[in-house]
Amino acid sequence: MNTSRFALVTGANKGIGKEIARQLAQQGYHVFLGCRDAARGREAQAELESAGQVEFVALDVTDGASVDAAAAQVEARAGRLDLLINNAGIAPDAAPPSQVKLDDIRATYEVNVLGPVRVTQAFLPLLRKGEQKNILNISSELGSLALHSYPDFAYHGVNIFSYNSSKTALNAFTVLLAKELKAEGFRVNAVNPGFTATDLNQHSGPLAPAEAAAAIVHYAVQGADGPTGGFFFQDGQVPW
Ligand SMILES: NC(=O)c1ccc[n+]([C@@H]2O[C@H](COP(=O)([O-])OP(=O)(O)OC[C@H]3O[C@@H](n4cnc5c(N)ncnc54)[C@H](OP(=O)(O)O)[C@@H]3O)[C@@H](O)[C@H]2O)c1
Repeated sequence: MNTSRFALVTGANKGIGKEIARQLAQQGYHVFLGCRDAARGREAQAELESAGQVEFVALDVTDGASVDAAAAQVEARAGRLDLLINNAGIAPDAAPPSQVKLDDIRATYEVNVLGPVRVTQAFLPLLRKGEQKNILNISSELGSLALHSYPDFAYHGVNIFSYNSSKTALNAFTVLLAKELKAEGFRVNAVNPGFTATDLNQHSGPLAPAEAAAAIVHYAVQGADGPTGGFFFQDGQVPW
């Protein structure tokens, strides 16, 4: 395949992930659309084809066999991966710490924490063959323990244990993986899209998915001189 850069976006069939995929395709990436539902994945592929090279790949981040099969498909098609965006995420409950159900914590962590770890580990051999060696984890300022410690934090009242702490754990993965892979030339960062109108929040956020995606793509396309081990929102850093 005559393409300069290959990217994988998980959860690419709707919301922020779909817009990230669209913008990467417009910038010349061949984008693998990681989607857990084949019908929704093919629908997204059909919609995004006018933006550039996009290709649906079946990928459920909670299912090791599905993730391994997706890695095998990308290897067969591209032989490497330049950019991984761990975007798939869920927020199935809004319970505070004293009331959260353990099953809701497990379900959230399975997608938001174990998912990115599973996908990253499976695709690392292909990323090592890539030129860009870039991993972006889509986090949230709701995962910032520092911000939750300030009473005047805009989302101080959003005291959801399962979702917020899943993003805190994703941030920990980001920092430690960045440290581990730095000598190999990898860049690993977390990005907060900002409060964005998607199905995740019943379309209540002020940002449009395309706006949130643009800020993420800004970090996605950076070269070897870009940052690593950071947590970013638009053009600034988010405290851990
Ligand atoms: N929206 C916000 O305000 C906001 C703020 C901060 C951070 N974020 C983060 O941004 C990311 C994207 O969220 P969004 O707002 O765009 O939400 P969304 O519209 O609900 O999209 C979530 C995507 O994740 C996919 N997904 C869920 N479980 C999956 C699994 N097991 N395997 C593969 N894909 C799976 C969904 O696929 P299906 O369609 O098949 O369910 C969908 O494509 C998430 O990580 C979220 O935490 C969002």
